[in-house]
Formats: sequence, structure tokens, C-alpha cells
Amino acid sequence: MAIQKVKQNVFSIGAKHWDRRLFDELIPLPDGTTYNSYLVEGSDKTALIDTVDPETLDDIFENLKNHNVTKIDYIIVNHAEQDHSGGIPAVLAKYPESKVVTNEKCKKMLIDLLKISDDKFMVIKDEEILSLGDKTLQFYLTPWVHWPETMVTYLKEDSILFSCDFLGSHYVSSELFVKDEAKVYASAKRYFAEIMMPFRKNITGHLEKLKDLNIEMIAPSHGQIYDNPKLILDAYKDWTSDNVKNEVVIPYVSMHGSTKRMVEYLTNALIKRNIIVKPFNLTVTDIGELAIELVDAATIVIGSPTVLMGPHPSVAYAAFLANMLKPKAKFATVIGSYGWGGKMVEKIAGMLGNLKVEILSTVMVKGFPEENDFRTLDDLADEILEKHKSLNL
Ligand code: FEO
Repeated sequence: MAIQKVKQNVFSIGAKHWDRRLFDELIPLPDGTTYNSYLVEGSDKTALIDTVDPETLDDIFENLKNHNVTKIDYIIVNHAEQDHSGGIPAVLAKYPESKVVTNEKCKKMLIDLLKISDDKFMVIKDEEILSLGDKTLQFYLTPWVHWPETMVTYLKEDSILFSCDFLGSHYVSSELFVKDEAKVYASAKRYFAEIMMPFRKNITGHLEKLKDLNIEMIAPSHGQIYDNPKLILDAYKDWTSDNVKNEVVIPYVSMHGSTKRMVEYLTNALIKRNIIVKPFNLTVTDIGELAIELVDAATIVIGSPTVLMGPHPSVAYAAFLANMLKPKAKFATVIGSYGWGGKMVEKIAGMLGNLKVEILSTVMVKGFPEENDFRTLDDLADEILEKHKSLNL
């Protein structure tokens, strides 16, 4: 993709991956993604901030050639994951005088992952400053967004925070800056849910650490640049807070209709109690949509039939994923059906060990649900209502 000007002597030279539809062989990307790489030209030195996924190196080299870049003094590495670091060996081959500037932990990972030799590195510490002449970079270590070595880079004179994965979105557009805030908010929330949510406590600390910086732009390495940083900073404050919403998420699978009927009944019972409900039939659900709803929901109800004495494998996958993502839900339970027996509830509950939830009443039905089963689901809806009220939702 063509070079785009961010500010005077600051350029976006990375790649737009319009048709990528899966990340890490796991995460759906309905809007593609970008691997942003930024060129900062100071009066004395030139820095490249992060590179790109090796698949898209042609873009960056074409931009460097068209911009007549004959020397790169520093390759700043905010994160060792290969969608940003994978291009470093090729850039070093073309610009052998470059130093790879990063923190100690990231250096070790780059040596392991990319076999970059030790003498290529310049190791920086938290809040260390690097002068490019009339432009100054300052580095802030922000571990666990979402790997242990992550950091961000602040360009003082232009008040730009280069945040790499942190605060990003899997969203691709020909426009450099955010225009459609609602669309980008939704993409950023999906990205947060899938990648950052397990680390929300770390993120709270990082937001606090960066709060006194004068940030006019946030330039992440995925998605567009925020020239209204408040949009994403306020969103992250909300998503990482302990506040939950009056919402119930119901991921479920039904094989012969019993669990589906229970989910339908419970959904209506919750709607009657003015609770927002999001049922997700896992056989047709984009798992990212489920992750988004897990960001705010106060309660998770998992619905499953019994398969070979346990949950349906698709439900087990969703429970495993929810446990990994560590949403801030306060309550959870299981509803479902069985033909002759099993330990489905115990098995699902055993998969949710990371969640700090109170387990509410479970509802298990033999065969197709009947009147007394619906009354039990009404009782569960009442229990959820009371629990939400106890949180002033
Ligand atoms: Fe975009 Fe963690 O890499």
C-alpha cells in the first residue's frame, strides 16, 4: 500500500491485508487487518517503528524505495510477535547498519524467534529516551499487551503514541485516520475481547502510567490511526473496568431441540425481566461475536445437550475459550438436556476455573422440557434478576 503521511517527516509505510480472514489460525477477521510500520525521519537519524508480517514485505520495501530511504539507523521493536517483527531480518539485510532497539525481554525473544544476532541490538530501559535530532522517542514498557515483552513508543515533538498491538483493531481501510468511529469502536472491541481481555488488570496499570502524556494521536500497528485518542482510551477504560452490564450471554448447542427450547424459554423470561439477552447458537456463530458480548455481560449461561456423558464438543470449545479470555462476568450457570445421564454440568463447571464467578442454579432436563422445567427456568430468570439488582444493574 502506498506511503501515507502521518505528520511532518512521519509516515505510515506498512501493509494492508485486505483479504485476510483468520488470525493465528483462530481469530476471524471480518474486516481484514493491517500491519502498520512507521518511518520517523529526524534531522540526524531515521527510525523505523515496527515492521510487517513477512508475507507483506514487498509493500514496505516499495515504500522505502519510492521515498528514497537509503539509511535506517534504528528499527524500533515494540513487540516480538512475527506479524510485526517478522520483517526485521529482511530489513536488516537491506539496511545492515541498522540497530534493533528494544527492551531486554524482547531482545531475547527476537533472538529465539528470528535468530537475530546479539550485536545487532541496542537495549533500552523503561522511559529511556532516544534522540533522532529534532525528534525524540521515549519508550514505555507495557508488558502483557498481550505478550510479556510489549512496549510502546512516544514521539514527543508530535505527541504520537506508537502502541503496536495495544489499542489496535483488525480493520483495514484506505483512509489512514479513523473516520467511522462507530465501525472502528466495534472492531476495536472485538480485538480487545479476543486478544487483550485476559490482561485487563495489566492494561489498567498501563493506562495509568501513560495518563500524563500529551497524546494527540495513537498510531497502533493494526488498524487506523486515532486522531481522536479519547475514543479508544475511554473505551479501554470502560472495557477494563470491573463494571458489568445488565446482560446475559447464552452460548449453546442443541442436537434434537430440547436445549434450544430451554434457551428460547429462558431468553424470553429474561427479556420479560428487562435484561438484555444474547443467545449464540454455536454451530453458526462467529466466535468473535461471542467474545465481544463477553466483554460487558454480568452473567454467562451455557446451554448444552449431553454427548457421551459430557458437553457437546462445540460447547466445550466455547467454554474453554471463555475461560482463556477471562471476561469479568460475575455469575454463570449451565442449562441443558440429557437422554440417560452424564456429568455435563460438572465437566463444564470444571472448565471455567479462571472465571471469578458465582455459580447460579443449574437446570438439567431429561428429554424434552415440560411445564415444571419451564417453571425452573423462570426461577433461574428470577435468580439472575436478583443477582443483577444486587449489583445495581
Ligand atoms: Fe499483532 Fe501480537 O501481534
